Formats: sequence, C-alpha cells, structure tokens
Amino acid sequence: MPIPKESRLLRIGVLGAGPIAQIAHLEACRKGRNTQLYALCEAAPDLLARVAAMHRPQRSFLHYADMLADPNVEAVIVGVADQFHAKLALQALEAGKHVLVEKPMGVTVEECEALREAVIASGLTLQVGHNRRFDPGVIHARRFIQEKIGGLISAQFWYYDSVHRYTMTDALQPLVQTSTQVLRPTGDPKSDRRRYLMLAHGSHLTDTARFLAQSEITRLRSRLLERLDRRCWFVDLAYADGSLGHLDLTVTVAGDFEEGFRIQGEHGSVNGRLPISWYHKAGFVECFSTADDLYTRPLGQDGHGYRRQLEGWADTILQGKEQWGAGVHDGLASMRAMAAIARSAATCGDWVALDSVSGGV
Ligand SMILES: NC(=O)c1ccc[n+]([C@@H]2O[C@H](COP(=O)([O-])OP(=O)(O)OC[C@H]3O[C@@H](n4cnc5c(N)ncnc54)[C@H](O)[C@@H]3O)[C@@H](O)[C@H]2O)c1
Repeated sequence: MPIPKESRLLRIGVLGAGPIAQIAHLEACRKGRNTQLYALCEAAPDLLARVAAMHRPQRSFLHYADMLADPNVEAVIVGVADQFHAKLALQALEAGKHVLVEKPMGVTVEECEALREAVIASGLTLQVGHNRRFDPGVIHARRFIQEKIGGLISAQFWYYDSVHRYTMTDALQPLVQTSTQVLRPTGDPKSDRRRYLMLAHGSHLTDTARFLAQSEITRLRSRLLERLDRRCWFVDLAYADGSLGHLDLTVTVAGDFEEGFRIQGEHGSVNGRLPISWYHKAGFVECFSTADDLYTRPLGQDGHGYRRQLEGWADTILQGKEQWGAGVHDGLASMRAMAAIARSAATCGDWVALDSVSGGV
C-alpha cells in the first residue's frame, strides 16, 4: 500500500544519480508522505536518461546550475562524492534552496565552518544524512536518555563492518545503473583507505555518539591499528558533562556487521544494535529503568531511515517542526571529532581538544 500523501509536498531536486540516490533517495522522495521527487540532476547523460526513466521526475537536468535556477525546486539533496559536498551545498543555499547533504557534511573542518556561517546567514534548513537518527530504536533511546536515565556515566559505541558486507548488501539492493561519464573527484578518494573509511563510517559513529549522549565531545584520544589489511580505531571520549565515552571502529571484522551502543546512567541503561541500513529494519534497542525495574523495547514498525529522514527534513521546512535530524552544527561537530581522531592517532594517542582541531582526516 502506498503511503498516503499529505496535501503539501516538498518539491525536491536530487543532485546525483549514483548509488545512494538510486538505492535510497529517489525512492524515499517518491514514497515520503510530504515529499515529491520534482527534479533529478546528473552529469552523465546516459545515467540521467536511464534513472529518470525509472523514477520519472518532472524535470531532468545535466547541469546543477540549471536545476538551482528552477524556482519550483524548493530543496536539494546533495548525493555526490564527499569531496563535493560542502561546495555544492553552499551553491544550493546561495540559490535559496534548503539542503539535505549526504554525510560527511564536508571533508575539512574549515569547509564545514564556512557552510555553518552560510546556513546561519541564509535562515534555510540544512540537514546532514545521518539516517541512524531516524531509526525507531535510536529515537526511543534518545528520549529515554533525555527523560529517564538521569546523570550519564559512560557510553560505548561500535561500528564493525563485516568481511561479508558487500555480499549482504548486494543481496538487498536493486541493481545499480552505472556510466563511464560520472563526475568524481580527481584521483580515487577510496584509495586512501584510512581517510575513506573514517569519512564513510566514522561520520555515522561520531554522530550517534553525540546524539545519544546528548553532550558535546570536548576531547578525545585515539589509537589506530593497521594490520592484515584491516583497520581498527579505539577512541576514548571526554564529554562536556564529565561522562566517559568509547568508540570502536573496526573495518573489517571476520564476523557479522554490527553497529551498536551501551549507555550507563544514574537510573537506567541502554543496549542497542542496529542492522545494516538497507534492511529498513528498526534497531534492537532496550532500555532498563530502575523506576519500575523493567526493560522497554520498541517494535519499530517502520525502519525506513532514509525515507523518514526526508519526512523529518520536510516537516521542519514546511511546518517549522524542530529539527530531529543532524543540523549544520552537528555536521561540523562530527567533522571535528573525525579530524581529532586522525590527529591523535598520528601521535599514538595524545589527547586532542575538539575546539582546537583543523584540517581533514
Ligand atoms: N547515509 C548513508 O548510509 C550512505 C550510504 C552510502 C553512501 N552515502 C554517501 O552518499 C554520497 C554519494 O555516494 P555515491 O556512491 O552515490 O557517489 P558516486 O560518486 O558514485 O555518485 C554520485 C553521482 O553524482 C554525479 N555528480 C557528481 N557531481 C555532480 C554535479 N556537479 N552535477 C551533476 N551530477 C554530479 C556523478 O556523475 C555520479 O553519478 C557519498 O558522500 C557517500 O558517503 C551515504
């Protein structure tokens, strides 16, 4: 059954017809209760033709400037390579469009800071594609921590990418259309594995660590092991409220994919495990409260985080609802955390203050 549409739909232009657009955003725009796939822009003409034939946006564009000049486009999804995010998000804001930019928000602290200034000056809504925030289990955990856990003691977060990840995701995802004419950054951004993996996966992990602890990470120290073509970052976090945190990013593990967290507080605790996002299945999250000595675990009937993040973004734009998704401050904070992890790992574990960090990862 299609999801009933609301009377007012956000007219979205999607930039990029690559894998993330084909697997997540195009379908999400079409299914969303308050969103409309109005336009698609893709630099590779053959890819644009094939993907537009499948998803039937009202307008198709080869050039981003032309899509931005269309007054019917109210909001843009920037679904292109990481290195292009900040610049193209900035152009959308300059054209008066709201933005959903894929994670990471940028690849250096400086470009994220510039984007933050532009968002504040524009009054427009920018959201970063940290889709985990829209998992019903994560939503339950955040509310539980806000309302019931009391003071926070410690929080652990981990992200283990499986050696079998691509076999699993190939089984889940539709066949992705490709082209020899796609626009990508010069060089191969995936060849620097350390950098690529931190931006790809560390961005999710650092956002979840801030979102659930609901306290800023002020300092961190990090160790990196690179062995047998595997990478493992162990990171100690110091939160502003005095609680302790830990991140473990391991790519890859000879085991199952795991993204999870354990959070300990004054009056309760939280355990969570999130499946690979492409399952569209809510995370398994249980919260224990000493108020009633019971665990609560939501049955998240709708785990489509990619669609729900667009609906949340559109609710903020169209109805002024509070932004649940990651905003520009969150995108910058996540970038600072990743840059600090890289600086600290380079000095074999010195503490790094996040407010003093600059550059990339
Ligand atoms: N949130 C998630 O779970 C998740 C998952 C996967 C990927 N991503 C993110 O999505 C982003 C895109 O990933 P991808 O694999 O689709 O990238 P990709 O580079 O394979 O595809 C991007 C497409 O955009 C087009 N493009 C780039 N610049 C353009 C421009 N200026 N004008 C017109 N077309 C342009 C390219 O031709 C290409 O077809 C990355 O930042 C990645 O980190 C997020």
